[in-house]
Amino acid sequence: MLRNDQLEQWDRDTFFHPSTHLAQFARGEAPQRVLTGGQGCHIEDRDGNRLLDAFAGLYCVNVGYGRQEIAEAIADQARELAYYHAYVGHGTEASITLAKMILDRAPENMSKVYFGLGGSDANETNVKLVWYYNNVLGRPEKKKIISRWRGYHGSGLVTGSLTGLELFHKKFDLPLAQVIHTDAPYYFRRDDLSQTEAQFVAQCVASLEELIEAEGADTIAAFIGEPVLGTGGIVPPPAGYWEAIQKVLAKHDILLIADEVVTGFGRLGSMFGSDHYGMTPDIITIAKGLTSAYAPLSGSIVSDKVWKVLEQGTDELGPIGHGWTYSAHPVGAAAGVANLKLIDDLNLVQNAGEVGAYLNAAMADALGDHANVGDIRGEGMLCAVEFVKDRDGRAFFDAADKVGPQVAAALLEQGVIGRAMPQGDILGFAPPFCLTRAEADEVVAKTAKAVHSVLG
Ligand SMILES: Cc1ncc(COP(=O)(O)O)c(C=O)c1O
Repeated sequence: MLRNDQLEQWDRDTFFHPSTHLAQFARGEAPQRVLTGGQGCHIEDRDGNRLLDAFAGLYCVNVGYGRQEIAEAIADQARELAYYHAYVGHGTEASITLAKMILDRAPENMSKVYFGLGGSDANETNVKLVWYYNNVLGRPEKKKIISRWRGYHGSGLVTGSLTGLELFHKKFDLPLAQVIHTDAPYYFRRDDLSQTEAQFVAQCVASLEELIEAEGADTIAAFIGEPVLGTGGIVPPPAGYWEAIQKVLAKHDILLIADEVVTGFGRLGSMFGSDHYGMTPDIITIAKGLTSAYAPLSGSIVSDKVWKVLEQGTDELGPIGHGWTYSAHPVGAAAGVANLKLIDDLNLVQNAGEVGAYLNAAMADALGDHANVGDIRGEGMLCAVEFVKDRDGRAFFDAADKVGPQVAAALLEQGVIGRAMPQGDILGFAPPFCLTRAEADEVVAKTAKAVHSVLG
C-alpha cells in the first residue's frame, strides 16, 4: 500500500478535530488514529489494526460497514444527478421516495419530512419551527424550550444550549436564555436512594411542574427529549416516565420534540423510540441511522398538528424563510433509501432487539457482581456499565481519576471500541445492528477483562 508518511504530521498541523483536546493533540500527546476501511462490525486503521467497533462510529453505522448496496446507490445517484436543490418545490426521485419511506415507518400522527444534514441542524430547524408555530398562532410569548440535564441535542448555538452537559456550555456563553433545563430521568443517580422508581418519576414530574409554574406556561413552547438519554450516559427512562411527562405537557399546551437521532430506525429494537415508549411527539428529529452515516442527512418529521399551522403561516406570509443549500441532498437521500431497504431486507430491527437483549444480559452476568460496577443498563442495542467507588453507598469516583476512560483504553488495547461517556464513569456500547452473538460475547469477555485490569 502506498503510504504518505507525512499524513500523521499534517493531521496534527492542519486538522481541527471536533470534541478533541486541541492542545494535547497538536503536541502529539493525545491519541491519533487514521481509519482506512471497515467491514461489518469491524474497522481498520492505517497501522493495520482491526477493531470491533462496539459503538458503530458515533452510534450511527447501524447497518455495519462496507455495505455495497448503499455505496452503489450513492455512486449511481452521483453519476445521474449529484445535486439539485429542493427549494420552491423541487425534488429528486430519491428525496421524495425517502420522505415516503420515513412516513410509512413513523408514528401515525406524522405528516411531512424536512431534510437537513446532521442532528444539530435538524434540532435548530425544530426550534425555529416551534417559534414560527407560536407566532402564527398569535402567541409570541410562548417561546422557551425545556430540555433535560444530560440531554444531548447537538452543539450549535441553540442546540448546544439544549444539550444539558456542562462541557458544551463552558466558555461558549451557553445556554441561551430561551432554553431552560429540567431533571434528567436518571434513576441510578437519584439524590434520595430510598426512592422507588415510581416515586422518582413523581419527583421528575413535580419538578417539571414547578419549572413550568415558575416560568409561566404561556412562555414555554416545547419540551425536547431523547426517548433514551444517549450521550448523557445511555439511560433508559424509568417505567411510566414518558406517560407522566406527556400528561404535563398536554395540560400546558407544550409541544413535544422527540429527539430520535440515536433511537430512530431501530436501535431500541423498535422502528422508533416513540413507539417503544408510547410517546406521541409533535416533531421527531432523525439523523444518524437514517443513512447509517453513509452520507450526511437528517430530518425533522412534522406532525399533522404542526404542519397545518405551518401551512397557515405561509398562506399569511408567503414561502417559509428556512432552508439549506443541501436540504434533501440527493446523494444523502439515495443513501437513506438504500439503507432503509437494507434494514428491512436483513431484519435488522429485530436483530437489534434480540442481540441487544443478549448483550445486556451477558454484560450483567459477567460484571453484575463486581464491587465497582454500580449499574448495568440498556435497551435494544444500547448498553452501559457505570462504575462506582463504593456500591453500597453509591459513591462515585473523582472525575480526575478518569476511571471510565481508563477502562475504555484497556478495552481498546484488546481491539474493541467502547465509549467513555463524557460525564461520569460510564462505558457505553451501541454496536451496529448486525452484531452477532459471538461478537457480543467477545465484547463482554473483553470488557470484563478490561474492568478487572483497571479496578481489580
Ligand atoms: C440525540 C442526539 N441529537 C442530536 C445530535 C447531534 O447530531 P449531529 O452530531 O449530527 O449534529 C446527536 C449526536 O450525537 C444526538 O445523539
